[in-house]
Amino acid sequence: IPVDPFDLVIFGGTGDLARRKILPGLFHRFCAGQMPPSARIIGAARTDLDHDGYRGIVAEAIEEFGGNLGGKAQKLKDFLDTVFYVTIDAQGEDGWPELQEFCKQKDRIEAFYFSVSPSLFGDLAERLHHWGMAGPETRIVVEKPFGRDLATAKHLNATLAAHFSEDQIYRIDHYLGKETVQNLMAVRFGNMLFEPLWNSQYVDHIQITVAETVGVGGRGEYYDKAGAMRDMVQNHLMQLLCLIAMEPPARFAPDAVRDEKLKVIRALDPVLPHHITRGQYEAEQGAEKQHPSYREAVGDPRSKTESFIALKCHISNWRWAGTPFYMRTGKRMSARSSEISVVFKETPHSIFGADAGRHRNVLSIRLQPNEGITLGVTIKEPGPGGMRLIDVPLDMTFAEALGDDSEHVDAYERLIMDVIRGNQTLFMRGDEVEAAWAWTDPIIEGWESRGEVPKPYPSGTDGTTDSHELMRRDGRKWREVS
Ligand code: BG6
Repeated sequence: IPVDPFDLVIFGGTGDLARRKILPGLFHRFCAGQMPPSARIIGAARTDLDHDGYRGIVAEAIEEFGGNLGGKAQKLKDFLDTVFYVTIDAQGEDGWPELQEFCKQKDRIEAFYFSVSPSLFGDLAERLHHWGMAGPETRIVVEKPFGRDLATAKHLNATLAAHFSEDQIYRIDHYLGKETVQNLMAVRFGNMLFEPLWNSQYVDHIQITVAETVGVGGRGEYYDKAGAMRDMVQNHLMQLLCLIAMEPPARFAPDAVRDEKLKVIRALDPVLPHHITRGQYEAEQGAEKQHPSYREAVGDPRSKTESFIALKCHISNWRWAGTPFYMRTGKRMSARSSEISVVFKETPHSIFGADAGRHRNVLSIRLQPNEGITLGVTIKEPGPGGMRLIDVPLDMTFAEALGDDSEHVDAYERLIMDVIRGNQTLFMRGDEVEAAWAWTDPIIEGWESRGEVPKPYPSGTDGTTDSHELMRRDGRKWREVS
């Protein structure tokens, strides 16, 4: 279904995110017939370019990051006809009259994507207002990092709020745009089967793992100031935690969902220092060593920033009292794999006796790759050997279950279309972001005040030995990263 005609201005239109995600995503939606041909994409950046110069950049970006273009040459040409460019100075006056000229057409939705450093958010908001482009229907899209602590996030929220109301601000957390992340809600609230068991009476614990094989690459400068806590936990992992733990919202509607997520964050207990471990990857060993260590990658031999983190937390509410939630994420781990596992308790009594063995049901939701759901079920070991129990997976890979025809829509594509539709369900509200920082700030301050240094872990492994110890102490184990 096509969305209504729109103008999308991308500040930072020549930047990495625009080239890798935003522009290829828009092209896919154009090919799918969702972006109307009358829509316009207006790149805006400091680089001095004309429309054709920018179209060249857009075409290159789509060729590099847009997947298989076979048979789409005409589509690409048509798409480029919707692309324009304005050279602009975010902190000065240059380019603003030209942009204003573009935004005069009133028959369409207007959205401004702030794909720039957060330090420019205030300047952009201010100028949009000054040049009469901040109308009550205008939407703005902002990216993480949304602040680096509670104080800066509050400041950013206040800066944007000076010119835009909350229902005009779309804070992107691209994890919320992932197909399987939304499936989490479908599985929980679309089935009778799981929800009655979704509480501390039946659930032993929950694990959330977001493992990456990449290192910090060329993002060392940003990453070394952030670390895994700010880069991944405060946003992506907390959003996953919220979706897995929240109460059923009354409706799948923006504030109904976001109210429930906020309650989860506010119910989180402070994390105890010995319930958290941080790591930094070491260089790859062996003759074919390709990757430098974390410290080499960021160019600081004394960096105290973590590239891995594992922690245990508790949600103090009626549903989850006493159920630990374990979360871990890291770079240069053994595999790229994101998974949420709900580990159920053992049956209260085994009628088969101690020798039969006992297993726990585990419901695993794989976010990437091979999106799908696996439910571990206990059955009898086949054969004449008596009643011995084994654990077998009821396995559903979405690609197999739904066929290859099921449309793959990247997180950014979906989220940008949601901006145009005016649907904020999959975007973070200002108070959610602040609550998340209020929880992470004391953890980070604790490391800093104690001068803690992350422990090294070899590249290609699953983090620090302390992270395994965190589980072992509780008589539990991390699920294998695969
Ligand atoms: C980004 C982080 O938000 O998410 C990156 O800044 C991380 O460090 C990335 O690599 C992971 O996203 P995805 O979609 O590849 O899991």
